Amino acid sequence: METIPAHGGKLINRELTGVERETLLERAPSMPRMALRPREVSDLEMIANGAFSPLEGFMCEDDYIAVRGNKHLASGLPWTIPVTLSATEEFANSLREGADIALTEEDGHLLGVLHLEQKFRYDKQREAERVYLTTDEAHPGVYALYDQGEWLLGGPVSLLNRPRTLTFPAYRLDPVESREAFKKRGWHRVVAFQTRNPIHRAHEYIIKCALETVDGLLLHPLVGETKSDDIPPAVRMRCYEAMLEHYFPRTRTLLAVNPAAMRYAGPREAVFHAIIRKNYGCTHFIVGRDHAGVGNYYGTYDAHYIFNEFDAEALAITPMFFDHSFYCRRCDAMASNKTCPHDSSDHVTLSGTRVREMLGRGEMPPAEFSRPEVAQILIEAMSAK
Ligand code: ADX
Repeated sequence: METIPAHGGKLINRELTGVERETLLERAPSMPRMALRPREVSDLEMIANGAFSPLEGFMCEDDYIAVRGNKHLASGLPWTIPVTLSATEEFANSLREGADIALTEEDGHLLGVLHLEQKFRYDKQREAERVYLTTDEAHPGVYALYDQGEWLLGGPVSLLNRPRTLTFPAYRLDPVESREAFKKRGWHRVVAFQTRNPIHRAHEYIIKCALETVDGLLLHPLVGETKSDDIPPAVRMRCYEAMLEHYFPRTRTLLAVNPAAMRYAGPREAVFHAIIRKNYGCTHFIVGRDHAGVGNYYGTYDAHYIFNEFDAEALAITPMFFDHSFYCRRCDAMASNKTCPHDSSDHVTLSGTRVREMLGRGEMPPAEFSRPEVAQILIEAMSAK
């Protein structure tokens, strides 16, 4: 059996090598320069390595408008999150369409080139309403959007150098590499798990339910930019390693990082997360409660319902939906309302805030909530602060 095709049919590669790379490297010093924000650095890397296939660059206006309004690219392919590069009015005015622009990290390290096809103004409020379903600046995705420049620069990109700030090099698999790894292991059906948190028992439960029916698991934590009160990726990575070491069969799991930044766009981001994992070669994708949500902006299962809006064949990756899961004392097992008949007073559920308070005091949360190996790592990280 062949691996699942990339979104749009072809895995994109916008990373230059050899003479082509040398030529652009030579020309880069004479190009206008632009320092990217962390989210844009992640996006550039993921366009270049094919994780955002079929995108070959930052969106031009037709794709931007189609995605914002209709959750599809102008070509009709499902796509739910604008992937854009913003610029100030002053900088945009200094650029001519057709020009090449050198893209750097904040410290000036050259990453690549934007072949500017189009510059255009955009309506941030409409993007907030459509994509985030709120214009509240307390929403971290909306805040980031409102903080952007007033213009967008669209066009294909060429990657010349990987970011200097690359973390977790051992776990950085490009889509070609994860696809190769699945093939080598003989995995045809691979489920991806997106997370920006340490893995607690509820996460473990839904992952294992999924893993019962497929060949392998890609544990694919997001390590791009997250909001400041999320647990830092370096701490989470230690938690993932501990989980895999103690509670999963080695031969059925692969840990790799997803370089993307979090948008906290709830339902729309769930579809975006699924498409990205399809590009990494996964056939299934876990969507649990309030996927990619923040605060109370989205309904608990809105990230499930949104998949009904898409042609399953065009998406191709199969979402696996899970209800809110918990440990039930009477079942003496992990469960959800789909599988447990008991009253919520029998369920062990702890809010994130409550858990953070406990860990901050050096207290172990109940074993029904978190594996002790994971809790220990979190307690140590918090006491080291
Ligand atoms: S997310 O932003 O990446 O969605 P998180 O890391 O908390 O945040 O969640 C990872 C995945 O686990 C998501 O699909 C989410 O819906 C799911 N999830 C988290 N907690 C639960 C839970 N208690 N029950 C069911 N699914 C959950």
